Amino acid sequence: MRFLITAGPTREPIDPVRFLSNRSSGRMGYAIAQAALDAGHEVVLISGPVALNAPPRAQTIQVTTADEMYDAVHAHLAGIDIAVLCAAVADFKPAQFAAHKIKKHDGIPRIELVPTRDILASLGALSSRKFLLAGFSAETDDIVENSRKKLAKKHCDAVIANDVSAPGVGFESNENALTILYPDQSSRILPRSTKQSLAKELIKILCEMKQKR
Ligand code: C5P
Repeated sequence: MRFLITAGPTREPIDPVRFLSNRSSGRMGYAIAQAALDAGHEVVLISGPVALNAPPRAQTIQVTTADEMYDAVHAHLAGIDIAVLCAAVADFKPAQFAAHKIKKHDGIPRIELVPTRDILASLGALSSRKFLLAGFSAETDDIVENSRKKLAKKHCDAVIANDVSAPGVGFESNENALTILYPDQSSRILPRSTKQSLAKELIKILCEMKQKR
């Protein structure tokens, strides 16, 4: 099978030296890419800025901003069987980019934010979509309820929820705990484990889902 995987954060520039971003390390997405490769699949990995080595056998496309990630994803959909959107895409970006560094002595700047385009929702909205679509959902509160809403709103085949407020799991961590939510209201818990072993399990589950369709 051919996988498209997004991973890592995006950076939304404010001026030439500053940006808005988040704490995503990219480890979960890279583990999923590696697990897919280990299982003999092809991988297109679209990655925001991370401090990780690209898996050698993946076709890796490095991007910085949410807009670049959106364009890269849409440019690489041909032949994809399974898309796993794991990236922590910034939800907002500065409305304007200051071409010169904003100076401290000019006072505290007011930075107006505008929403970024939602990549996962844009794939869910494709009427011609043949690939299986799974999104991640990082939440700190009401995880299952919020993730169920995303599943419905973004028209995915699965949403993989993780609690980013629990100590030792989620962002910047080697471990995670996942709940996979399906459109028929059922769910499956993958208990706390390394991101590598969760990724392996996830690849198996997604391949079985794709084969059943
Ligand atoms: O709504 P929320 O950002 O929590 O949804 C998370 C899911 O949506 C993740 O799969 C993430 O990769 C995806 N997403 C996206 N584009 C955005 C925001 C989120 O693809 N602009």
